[in-house]
Amino acid sequence: MATQQTDCRHFLSLLDLSLDEARALIARATELKRMRAAGQDFKPLAGRTLAMIFEKSSTRTRVSFEAGMVQLGGHALFLSPRDTQLGRGEPIEDSARVISRMVDAVMIRTFEQKTVEVFAAHSRVPVINGLTDRCHPCQMLADLQTFHEHRGDIQGKRVVWIGDGNNMCHSFMEAAQLFDFELRVACPEGFDPDADLLAACGDRCTILRDPREAAEGAHLIATDVWASMGQEEEQERRQAAFASYQVTDAIMDQASSDVLFMHCLPAHRGEEVAASVIDGPRSVVWDEAENRLHAQKALLEFLIPH
Ligand code: CP
Ligand code: NVA
Repeated sequence: MATQQTDCRHFLSLLDLSLDEARALIARATELKRMRAAGQDFKPLAGRTLAMIFEKSSTRTRVSFEAGMVQLGGHALFLSPRDTQLGRGEPIEDSARVISRMVDAVMIRTFEQKTVEVFAAHSRVPVINGLTDRCHPCQMLADLQTFHEHRGDIQGKRVVWIGDGNNMCHSFMEAAQLFDFELRVACPEGFDPDADLLAACGDRCTILRDPREAAEGAHLIATDVWASMGQEEEQERRQAAFASYQVTDAIMDQASSDVLFMHCLPAHRGEEVAASVIDGPRSVVWDEAENRLHAQKALLEFLIPH
């Protein structure tokens, strides 16, 4: 049997979209948000099912995809390795062939990027990356929507990432390429983002070691936890390495007067971010979280034939 079963679109990284498609999705997300606020029913995905495979914990991703599918008239199915054959070693390829014959799209949160790629290669329906160790494209769509709603076009702006060169950092690097903004990454040595991705960003992305210097003139400052899911045993070592990388008011004060603060959540106040920053007037973290719902509804509408 052929490996690639259909030519359906997948969303495994932000760069699976063209700039025009990404811009259209963000605009559509804001429109769907307005329609929901106006109490307007919109159910283009009636009778459609989204399977959601979670190999890591989640609050926002699970709730936003499940609520989003229901709001679009469809249904979402939560699958965990604990109580499916996925956890007992059934090959990803076989799981993809079987699940994709029964549902209309699949969302996967897992460890390796390769897993979502293999699943997509054997799936008849669109596959969405709900977070891997490599990137978090759904969160990036919501973050881009949030920036756009507060400040307009992100092109040409200065975005500063402070902390770990992790999956969220990688998604910001992909967004910098697609939307053409300047990205400064302030991280301690040994925690740099992926070198190939850095090279692909060209002069749009630079690595700095001093977070205060990096923050100068920033229009957006973003951070994330110091130890991601799967790195729990490194927590102590990381806490020491990142001690001078907390986003504080002093760092925010280096930035542009209209700077925004973002964090994909969940956050650890007093570690990667001071409570006064995340709970302060420059923070848009609750809008970011809410926009997961609207951005992913736009994505589901775009990917699932109806
Ligand atoms: N930001 C995010 O993806 O949150 P969850 O881990 O709760 O899904
Ligand atoms: N970098 C974090 C993001 C969680 C949404 C993690 O991978 O755990």
